[in-house]
Amino acid sequence: MRCRRCGNPGAINMRQHKLSLCLDHFPEWFLEQTQRAIKNYRMFAHAERVLVAISGGKDSLALWDVLLKLGYQADGVYIDLGIDHGSSYSARSKDKAAAFAAQHPAARLIVVDILHLYGESIPQVAQRRHRPQRPCSICGLIKRHEMNRVALEGGYDVLATGHNLDDEAATLFGNVLHWQVDYLRHQFPVLPADGQGLARKVKPFCRFYERETAAYTLIRGIDYIEDECPYATGATSLAHKETLNRMEHDSPGAKMHFYTNFLKAKEAGLFAAEETAPELHPCPQCRQPTSAPDLCNFCRLWEEK
Ligand code: AMP
Ligand code: FES
Ligand code: ZN
Ligand code: ZN
Repeated sequence: MRCRRCGNPGAINMRQHKLSLCLDHFPEWFLEQTQRAIKNYRMFAHAERVLVAISGGKDSLALWDVLLKLGYQADGVYIDLGIDHGSSYSARSKDKAAAFAAQHPAARLIVVDILHLYGESIPQVAQRRHRPQRPCSICGLIKRHEMNRVALEGGYDVLATGHNLDDEAATLFGNVLHWQVDYLRHQFPVLPADGQGLARKVKPFCRFYERETAAYTLIRGIDYIEDECPYATGATSLAHKETLNRMEHDSPGAKMHFYTNFLKAKEAGLFAAEETAPELHPCPQCRQPTSAPDLCNFCRLWEEK
């Protein structure tokens, strides 16, 4: 297939869009599509300050690159989880994030070291809580809390993550499989700040296939950590991704339609009428909003030490 924009041989063929583009025009299209998502979902404006959550992986580094290229004020936050697992996973991820930041003097990288700040790394907390093999939910809780804290303390208007369509479709699949209506209510490319201590959250890459963000990092020569988190092996989200990829193989676009039709249904009011906000109050220790009766789940994690 030939590039739709210039007629030269295409390098990236996207069956789901019936679109082929060359190495020059793919990055151009990628930037346009990101800008379009930012505008369509009213994620943020050029006058606002964006904090990008950087894992050192391809999606978040590509997102940082694109936002800078589009002229946004975007800083990064890397959360050092202290995961070694015989492969120095966290240390190597941090190096990738730091190397990118060093090449972009206009952008600042904030590093949050969990072990240093709270006295335990993720594997150590998980060990203490008798979940040594499956630290993921504790890790997710800590990451969400810390990203939000840094966004608020740094005066950022919005927190951006690198979630792509494969991530979002797999999450949606899991939520539907178990009819987790509360999660379905809150799954959207933009979640507004609640005015009580939760920062606005956005996912500008939610409509890109993983192979599209991979192609972008490759073409732009961005160096990233290729490994998944060592604890992710066997995770249900990976199994859901495989299922969706099999469907995609047989029916190109299946994954995209599954997710984007969900977004359309939500925009048309799905779940909106039933919205009942849980009773929130500021955690007496960290001040972040919580529905827990006293300390929030994050603060309780360290109280029990
Ligand atoms: P994951 O849940 O690992 O697929 O990551 C989803 C998104 O969360 C990434 O694209 C990043 O934006 C963010 N993220 C994951 N891990 C970290 C981390 N250690 N520090 C900062 N942001 C992260
Ligand atoms: Fe947190 Fe894997 S356990 S990234
Ligand atoms: Zn072209
Ligand atoms: Zn708290």
